[in-house]
Amino acid sequence: MHTKRLPIAGTTATIPAIGMGTFGSDHIEAEVMAQAVKTALAIGYRNIDCAQVYSNEPQIGAVLKESTVARDELWITSKVWNDSHGKANVIASAKESLMDLGLDYLDLYLVHWPFPNYHPPHCDVESRSPDARPFSLDEFMDTWAGMEALVAEGLVRHIGTSNMTRAKLELVLPHCTIRPRFNEMELHPTFQQSQLVSYLTREGMMVIGYSPLGSPNRPERDKTETDLVDMDHPIVVEIARAHQVHPASICLKWAHQNNIIPIPLSTKEHNLRSNFEAIHCDPLTDEELTLLKEVESNNRLIKGQVFLWEGAAGWQDLWDEDGIIAR
Ligand SMILES: NC(=O)c1ccc[n+]([C@@H]2O[C@H](COP(=O)([O-])OP(=O)(O)OC[C@H]3O[C@@H](n4cnc5c(N)ncnc54)[C@H](OP(=O)(O)O)[C@@H]3O)[C@@H](O)[C@H]2O)c1
Repeated sequence: MHTKRLPIAGTTATIPAIGMGTFGSDHIEAEVMAQAVKTALAIGYRNIDCAQVYSNEPQIGAVLKESTVARDELWITSKVWNDSHGKANVIASAKESLMDLGLDYLDLYLVHWPFPNYHPPHCDVESRSPDARPFSLDEFMDTWAGMEALVAEGLVRHIGTSNMTRAKLELVLPHCTIRPRFNEMELHPTFQQSQLVSYLTREGMMVIGYSPLGSPNRPERDKTETDLVDMDHPIVVEIARAHQVHPASICLKWAHQNNIIPIPLSTKEHNLRSNFEAIHCDPLTDEELTLLKEVESNNRLIKGQVFLWEGAAGWQDLWDEDGIIAR
């Protein structure tokens, strides 16, 4: 099956409407993740969501090198990790990803998080990077200058943000020479972020939805007792029954029909296949889409506690929920 592609406004380029996630660094061996990418390419996936911090770009690069899929059919995203902010570091980091992935260019390069606050792999929820600090426009624009330089050098086709808020983008956008074309953010039926999605659309940005199935196997540090499980939600389950599909497919159809590019992760061929098919056939009805609006529960799963700085009140400080950037 050929993957559906979406036009990128203002360009002649298109992006595959579904991608494959590869965040396995804490719980999936790099080789296992790379073999899943190989399976995904055989199924028809053409959009792979990578990141340097996922610690598997060399293994995925080996799979891409062996693949017979033409480079111009593929869409490869990577992201600069939080320990490589600043113009020179961004450029060096992108070059490392390019070398690891065995590519001449990336289709999309994202600033993974809008602050230079990192955490080591396998850390627990209390872990804090000693030099963590709140968002700074000056620091972010220095990082963004590196992103723009990569486009100018032809190493990256499109650039974007991830985990950005409206308040931060309102500060950043007027200073960009090249505006971000994409924002990658957490999106699933119990966490629809519809106001932020509308704002991004008005600003001409496309939206990539991460953890589109509610990330059931996310690291323990990202789990709390009150988190909801999208795939168990009674409305999602009922609609899945009507379509005779797994609830995962309903989460992906919901994303696709709301103009979100979902990037589900799977290491299993049957799940990769049914996730891919979900957006290509048997769409939800208008009534079902209306019903799914009721599933929204402000159920943020990736709260980001490990990115907090000393003196921060709590994880809400990362997300500017009241429109004010915490300092
Ligand atoms: N930009 C960011 O900061 C950021 C943050 C988080 C994630 N991401 C990206 O988004 C991607 C996806 O998010 P995610 O990995 O957190 O979670 P997700 O895609 O919501 O969920 C993945 C989990 O769902 C299971 N699964 C997949 N298909 C299924 C199906 N059809 N039926 C039942 N279970 C199924 C998978 O297990 P099996 O392997 O057993 O199928 C896997 O453990 C990541 O891999 C990463 O690329 C980006």
